[in-house]
Amino acid sequence: MLIWKMHPLPLAILTFALFNLNQLRAGQSNSLMDVSQDGKRIAVANTDSGTVTVFDVQSRSPLAEIPVGTKPEGVTWIGKSPLLAVTLYSEDKVVIIDCDKLSVIKTITTEDEPYGIVSTMDGKKLYVTHEYPGKISEINTADFKVTQVFNAGKMTRGIALSPDEKYLFVTEFYTASVNKLDAATGKMMDQWKGRDDDNFARQITAHPTRPKVYYPHIRSRTHIIDADGSIFPEFTICDTSGLPDKTRRMTVAMDTFNGVYVVATPWETAVSPDGKTIYIIYSGTNDMNICKVMDDDYSEIQRVGTAIRLGVNPRAIRVNPNGKEVYVYNALQFDVTIHDPTTMTKLASMKSCDPPKSPEWVRGKILFATSLSPMTSRRWVACFSCHPDGNSDGRIWENPEGLRKTPPMAGLAHTHPLHWSADRDEVQDFEYTIRGKLMRGYGLTKGALTPKNGFEKTELKEKLSEKSADLDALAIYTNSFGFTLSPHIEAPGKLSKQAERGKALFFNNQVACASCHSGPYYSDSQLGAKGKVHDVGTGNDDPSEKMGPQYDTPTLLGLYRNAPYLHHGKAKTLMEVLTTQNLKDKHGKTSHLSTSEKEDLVEFLKALPYEMPPDETPNTVKFRLTPKK
Ligand code: HEC
Ligand code: HEC
Repeated sequence: MLIWKMHPLPLAILTFALFNLNQLRAGQSNSLMDVSQDGKRIAVANTDSGTVTVFDVQSRSPLAEIPVGTKPEGVTWIGKSPLLAVTLYSEDKVVIIDCDKLSVIKTITTEDEPYGIVSTMDGKKLYVTHEYPGKISEINTADFKVTQVFNAGKMTRGIALSPDEKYLFVTEFYTASVNKLDAATGKMMDQWKGRDDDNFARQITAHPTRPKVYYPHIRSRTHIIDADGSIFPEFTICDTSGLPDKTRRMTVAMDTFNGVYVVATPWETAVSPDGKTIYIIYSGTNDMNICKVMDDDYSEIQRVGTAIRLGVNPRAIRVNPNGKEVYVYNALQFDVTIHDPTTMTKLASMKSCDPPKSPEWVRGKILFATSLSPMTSRRWVACFSCHPDGNSDGRIWENPEGLRKTPPMAGLAHTHPLHWSADRDEVQDFEYTIRGKLMRGYGLTKGALTPKNGFEKTELKEKLSEKSADLDALAIYTNSFGFTLSPHIEAPGKLSKQAERGKALFFNNQVACASCHSGPYYSDSQLGAKGKVHDVGTGNDDPSEKMGPQYDTPTLLGLYRNAPYLHHGKAKTLMEVLTTQNLKDKHGKTSHLSTSEKEDLVEFLKALPYEMPPDETPNTVKFRLTPKK
């Protein structure tokens, strides 16, 4: 370290020379797509179909589509071998596919929510990010055992190996901070903090020779509710040299990168093997940029040409190690396109899978993800910008009606009415959002809507379902998110002793949580039941609140991964919901409980769901994907 600081130049030259001995190659980085080291095969994870498709590069055709399990989020070739490793986010597993046999040969149970995955060049080790609560697993490929688990930060998704494979660079999804860890020991070596409004950092890549890592993300500007100012696309470059005279972190605003042509939702980036070119794809506007890498520590990237049109919802981009082809995975067009690396001229396209679920669901997902008309006239924002794949954006928005945390959408089909103030009773009511200031879209129905009068709950009277196939499709998609079991349980259906004690308190008549948090979704939300909102003392002293202080009872399933809590997010922890945010015992009676009783109650809340809720309740809505029997 000291030597490095004293003689940066000779060492830099030496490092460069060493890398040139081998073929130049960017450190491995996470993606839904990977190209084999010999450049002959491509693998793609079809997240919604639960399959991986393997392609032959020479014949430009699929070899096989292999079922793997629910929600594959990352795929990597293991060294030079014919093996692939795939993360299954919903199942907490990594599966190994043998691409000669074209079948799954091994399943490894891992920590919660495995997302990104990378392999060392020699294929001896795999590193996996776990989103909740933010960990990395190291897997030894000799016996496919998890050998170490590191704490890696908060809600980690992106992962890149440094080209010398000594370090791991990891992104925190909701803070856009980058953490550098020692790959051998997991020791946290450094952190590049994101700004307060940086969000959605899901992928990162390292330059093959320059001490730089790159990652796309957005900004969520929660004090502005406007299609022109809420969401911004960005690209960040971190200097990893450790030298004191360098700018450690630099962010490029991508909305002005192409002049007046705005791009949205930067989702993934790739560096060419020679380190001269960077590709950035935008999944919200279905386009991308080619950029020249500037060796200047100043402007860092320079746009080559204008933004280039891609297929629907591009979510992965990779360069062949021979540098001669670029591949794009168009996730909602269900294909991989092959391009010329300098012009991005399309050379071929290969089908990756059949459209999953149902045509309406696919249509709904396309509308949800896009920043194009008719959803918005401004190209910055999409439903996805705040509800990424149905998750929360972890933000508290300063809405006109008051502070509002973005809720996760899991279980939505069963927990209508919608919004913290229960002012909407069908997802189709979000036509008001589409046409409103936040999105400034043309909308999905024809004709005028009943105008809003202040904060009156106009949408409860306006029936918008069955008026437009697109609006119904949006509802079907939005109502499709489910839960996975909490990692804070001993086994499916089995609580720890402490959580069992907490459960007894939860259902105790005096504590009375279950009087509102009732039924399998832990909510008394009910369609048609007028006034089923409660004042639990959370919105009384907030002058910005225009619709409260009575709120819809939220589901408690999946709480463990969705801090902060309450409509205004003022409870940073579950303990605060029961203590500092419940001083007058209006939100269940908690003041008489001892500290250890409150801890028991929190342990129970963290364990939800410990069993799967039913897929049909008396309150389940019609516009949803009915699961196959
Ligand atoms: C700028 C961020 C943002 C955008 C863009 C956005 N939402 Fe939301 N969404 C929120 C917030 C914040 C809430 C909570 C508001 C409330 O309860 O009053 C919310 C609530 C919801 C809910 C209710 C969830 C529940 O549990 O009650 C649905 C459904 C929803 N949004 C759908 C959409 C759709 C569909 C779009 C696109 C047309 C969209 N949202 C665009 C931030 C956003
Ligand atoms: C009178 C009905 C009622 C009772 C009783 C009640 N709750 Fe709630 N709960 C609500 C409402 C309404 C909210 C939303 C309040 C807000 O966001 O400001 C809520 C919110 C919560 C939240 C935050 C959820 C989130 O997603 O942010 C938690 C956790 C919670 N309640 C747990 C409990 C526990 C534990 C008890 C028993 C001690 C309890 N509640 C008793 C109605 C109730």
